[in-house]
Amino acid sequence: MRISFSADRARTQAADVLAVLVPQGKLSTAVADLDGADGFGGALAGAARDDGFEGKAGSTAWTPGLGRVAARRVMLVGVGAGSANDLRAAAGLVGRQSRDKGARTVAVVSPEAAVSGEGLSLCIEAFAEGNYRFDKYKPAAQRKAACDGLVFVGVAEDAATVARAEALVAGQELARNLVNEPASEVYPDSIAAIAEGLQGGEVSLVASWDFGALQQKGMGGIVGVGQGSDRKPRFVHLRYEPAGGAKAHVALVGKGVTFDSGGLSLKPSDGMLTMRCDMAGAAAVIGAMKALSATRPNVRVDMIFGAVENMPSGNAYKLGDILKMYSGKRVEIHNTDAEGRLVLADCLHYASELKPDVVVDLATLTGAAVVALGEWYSAVYSREDTVAAGLLRAADTSGEGAWRMPLPDLYRDKIKAEWGETKNTGGRNGGSITAALFLSDFVSTPKWAHIDIAGPAFLDSPLMHYVQGGTGTMVRSLVRWVHSLGD
Ligand code: BES
Ligand code: MN
Ligand code: ZN
Repeated sequence: MRISFSADRARTQAADVLAVLVPQGKLSTAVADLDGADGFGGALAGAARDDGFEGKAGSTAWTPGLGRVAARRVMLVGVGAGSANDLRAAAGLVGRQSRDKGARTVAVVSPEAAVSGEGLSLCIEAFAEGNYRFDKYKPAAQRKAACDGLVFVGVAEDAATVARAEALVAGQELARNLVNEPASEVYPDSIAAIAEGLQGGEVSLVASWDFGALQQKGMGGIVGVGQGSDRKPRFVHLRYEPAGGAKAHVALVGKGVTFDSGGLSLKPSDGMLTMRCDMAGAAAVIGAMKALSATRPNVRVDMIFGAVENMPSGNAYKLGDILKMYSGKRVEIHNTDAEGRLVLADCLHYASELKPDVVVDLATLTGAAVVALGEWYSAVYSREDTVAAGLLRAADTSGEGAWRMPLPDLYRDKIKAEWGETKNTGGRNGGSITAALFLSDFVSTPKWAHIDIAGPAFLDSPLMHYVQGGTGTMVRSLVRWVHSLGD
């Protein structure tokens, strides 16, 4: 998608769709140029009013250009009071609806609300989110092409903001595609290869371990979960090292379960249907790494994920097994469907060995997080107020839902084991919290946050301007947060 700036009048701007951002109650002034005597001659505002459109945030009205203006169609989109969230929702709708209409070129004009700096960035980000589809497996006749030209009319050119927004969008779209691809395409070896493809410049490959190496290193969590599949597990560690020196050092860790059947604790079909999304944590850190390598923060970043397929078979790990983890701890298996925490535990212990200032892990870890917070909010766990606040702020700026959850030692008893040191389930109540408590035992750096993205990572039905499927959630938030540590 080419992004450009135009000094044309709204009336003479050529495009498949000309989208006018209209603040509440400012319809007449927002469309003044289009609705003048040489344009619609007053018919545009009148027709929109007849349709009940008055600029309310999230409302839209469509009119054909009829040759009175250069654009083929005019889309009025309300931005309400013009807050960042209003602007984002509007840009997202422009992206979504213009793709539904098959538009290849979209011009955005904002005569009343200034679009610049962070506002310009969030417009581009939300537009791209709304414009995204995963339709590569549909017949050509049912595919609608993505927008290939986005033009801002009457907006000051800002190449640096555009470049950064494009990097955020590309990272998020990579994550989204990885989540949407079926597990026959995205499996441990293939996701490892995609991550390795990010090498170059300031990004280098530190480790890429296959099943044999994982056994030899004693990564009993990843080996245990992965041993039941014909697609054997992988472990990947990439590093971004800024040439100009680093002011901070973070580790980003992702859960990469490329398919979660539940293992011997087999999921019912309904719950299993979308479990190709269970590598969304790994996809998020891969997407973030891609964006970070392009936007170059003054922060050293270690990106780590374990990729496994959780399958039942004659080789599968079993209930009652006691796994020896990479940290040396013994974990009793009470449910093979609580596999993500086992994979993450080995990754978190490895990440701790690197002694970063802070570790953040992302995982589609528990159905309980979805029950608690629904599909918009990720559950953020941290004992460090500064880390939690920084992540929540980055999510707020990015327009992603995130909500802090408690991490009380009071619930530790729930994961006490009979035979091993700990067990991999903590009962139904507070299931997302006990999963986070389990993880905390494998982190030895003082600062750590865990983000359970099980709700937002994959949508069963459209939400806001997102179509159903993978969302690439947290990529942009992570990138903004990492930058904030180096600024
Ligand atoms: N991958 C699932 C969690 C999940 C559920 C992600 C729904 C996305 C949407 C995870 O591995 C899992 O199965 N968790 C179990 C844990 C339980 C067995 C303790 C769960 O949440 O039911
Ligand atoms: Mn599971
Ligand atoms: Zn899982």
